[in-house]
Amino acid sequence: MAEHCLIAQISDPHIKAGGRLSYRQVDTAGALRQAIHKLNHLTPRPDLLLISGDLVDFGQSQEYVTLREILADLRLPVYLIPGNHDDRDKLRTTFPDHSYLFQHPRFVQWVVDDYPVRLIGLDSMLPGHPHGTLCLERLRWLDETLLQQPARPTLVMLHHHPFVSGIGHMDRQRLRNADALAKVIGQHPQVERVLCGHLHRGIQARFANTLAISCPGASHQVSLDLTSEGPSSFHLEPPGYLLHHWTPSIGMVTHQGFIVEYPGPFPFYDDSGLID
Ligand SMILES: [Fe+2]
Repeated sequence: MAEHCLIAQISDPHIKAGGRLSYRQVDTAGALRQAIHKLNHLTPRPDLLLISGDLVDFGQSQEYVTLREILADLRLPVYLIPGNHDDRDKLRTTFPDHSYLFQHPRFVQWVVDDYPVRLIGLDSMLPGHPHGTLCLERLRWLDETLLQQPARPTLVMLHHHPFVSGIGHMDRQRLRNADALAKVIGQHPQVERVLCGHLHRGIQARFANTLAISCPGASHQVSLDLTSEGPSSFHLEPPGYLLHHWTPSIGMVTHQGFIVEYPGPFPFYDDSGLID
């Protein structure tokens, strides 16, 4: 097994079927195609891709079929968890070859041991509600799974953010029992990151003696509004992705990149030194 590992993450693709636009504004399918093109051409190429929920927009079968068609162009293994916009059964039905989705009989949560970094996906959805929760059964599974390999660096991914971001309307739909999750995570120092989506923005916060990071949206971004009663809205700011790079001598380092191409690269130096 290679010692280093490069893990890409995107989040909240919110795929719609039939060319429809999310919120009548966003070409989410086009944005995901662009993201996949970007990830396929990164150097070095990531070892795998994580997608942290809200895979489709309204949990409909045809949306999952569209998602599958788009993901067919991806040249990396991909691992999926559901978000509040998803439907567990339709996700599983459309991706029957993704055997990890079937590890738990009730919840779409899983562990993957095929890489130098151990990957754990949690199912924080509560069908019919925008906020998230992790019941005792899911938390117990997480605790037991983490106990199995205490010495291996591990990423834990769930859709809902387990911290207060300051964006009021999103915090009202965060993970409700984050304290219970923190209690479990805090007992397992091998957890390098708690990764989430839902916020549609790159945000970091300390959580249970580790670092919680929300991934930017793959298409639209939740507006950066730190007033408690601000409206629920989004901006078409640049979509992004995360790269979690693990090396044994350095540990885990997380980078944020943008999917859209910008001008560059331009040199800082020429033959006479720093360019003036
Ligand atoms: Fe979302």
